[in-house]
Amino acid sequence: VVAAALAVGGLFARLWTDAKVSTVGEAPFDNPLVIPPVAESTVEKDGTRVFELRMQAGETEFRDGVKTPTWGFNGSYLGPTLRAQRGEKVRVRVANGLEEASSVHWHGMHLPARMDGGPHQMIAPGATWTPHWTVDQPAATLWYHPHPHGRTEAHVRRGLAGLFLLDDEKSARLPLPKRYGVDDLPVVVQDVRFDGSQLAGDRGLMQNVGFLGDRTMVNGTLRPYRQVHDELIRLRLLNASTARTYAFGFPDDRGFSLVGTDGGLSARPAVMDRVQLSPGERAEIVVRVEAGERVMLRSFPQDNYGDAWQRRFGGGDDSFDVLELRAAERLRPSPGLPAELVEPEVPREEEAVRGRHFDLKRSGINGRAMDMGRIDETVTRGTTEVWTIRNTNGMPHNFHVHDVQFRVVEVNGAAPPPALRGPKDTVFVPHGTTMKLALRFTGPADPDTPYMYHCHLLYHEDEGMMGQFVVVEKGQPAGKPPGHSGHT
Ligand code: C2O
Ligand code: CU
Repeated sequence: VVAAALAVGGLFARLWTDAKVSTVGEAPFDNPLVIPPVAESTVEKDGTRVFELRMQAGETEFRDGVKTPTWGFNGSYLGPTLRAQRGEKVRVRVANGLEEASSVHWHGMHLPARMDGGPHQMIAPGATWTPHWTVDQPAATLWYHPHPHGRTEAHVRRGLAGLFLLDDEKSARLPLPKRYGVDDLPVVVQDVRFDGSQLAGDRGLMQNVGFLGDRTMVNGTLRPYRQVHDELIRLRLLNASTARTYAFGFPDDRGFSLVGTDGGLSARPAVMDRVQLSPGERAEIVVRVEAGERVMLRSFPQDNYGDAWQRRFGGGDDSFDVLELRAAERLRPSPGLPAELVEPEVPREEEAVRGRHFDLKRSGINGRAMDMGRIDETVTRGTTEVWTIRNTNGMPHNFHVHDVQFRVVEVNGAAPPPALRGPKDTVFVPHGTTMKLALRFTGPADPDTPYMYHCHLLYHEDEGMMGQFVVVEKGQPAGKPPGHSGHT
């Protein structure tokens, strides 16, 4: 009894000390920000753009003189930025150079289920998987990461993630900052904790939302700064953390313009001073800098994170300095932002032919833990549906759907705030939230190969907060998913 009491006491003591983390003002931001290289590609005779990705183990020097074992794509940590045009055929040769099986999922991409890279498209050690598809969606900031069932958290946290940017004619014509690494910066945010030379994060540390780090990195750089030479800077923010939700803004509360959400550009720039991103979500923001100033991108404590207990133990009270922008003494003038951007390609609620309900619980969705051999939902190709997502579970979750970009129709019965008005594939659903989404499934039909929907807090996903849906032709029955591990 005494030992148990001590163990429990120790646990709470640790949670308590871990409860409020702040790196605000802690150290000079003097490491130059790493910009992930744009992936090289070759173009075949029929116009197919071909990329090569290799998952591999390596060592990364995050801190001077300390080598940390990590995983990466084509390098030791994170991966190159893939980039393609709407209408282009792409093929990716994904080699697994690890000693365990994994997969690579194209988060936010509309593509056939067999190419999706979920837990049914595993790549054995030493094997290569070569998905191919035609890019058929608007310009957007997408990303890629492993998705092996039960192991996604570990694979992503060790460093397997990268951006996949899509361009189209409309985005090319708009006067938005678009010089990659110059006035259009990739900002892949992760929280980490070091245990000596190792990245911490064993399962014993997981509580509540999952693993929370005590400092952040951008593109794998600790305490990063970036010199900028333009008045307007576009930041493509990706929350690539496995559990932590951020609320980004600037210490002087300056307004910035949100110009894009997960799946593409917004209808028009929306000025705000905070943007909240849960794991997997993206936002494109444009911020104005003054000549010679240093301005910190910061993550602030969050009100909208459930009750006080949830905020505290889910990391919602934490604050981080994330990335310092150092503006040059002379800045190039930037054109003003256009009043209108693009009409987002998201379905309308009025088109919906049916509704479904998803109840989020730590133990599973709609009372069931993930089973790779079970199809949970069957949707008809070419139809729009309204999905109602509800969290009364007492802890924060989010909700991600593969293959589609949806419209957020309602949050707790009200119109969505500006940050949720563009194309979305992942939404934060804190305790006490009911959210209505409109989703359109355009296929192709494949009754045997499921797509996933799940909580993108990866520990929750691994532990079963995931379900499977197939897209079928009208009247066609769902098939039986192959590859259920172990039996059949
Ligand atoms: Cu980013 Cu199913 O995942
Ligand atoms: Cu969750």
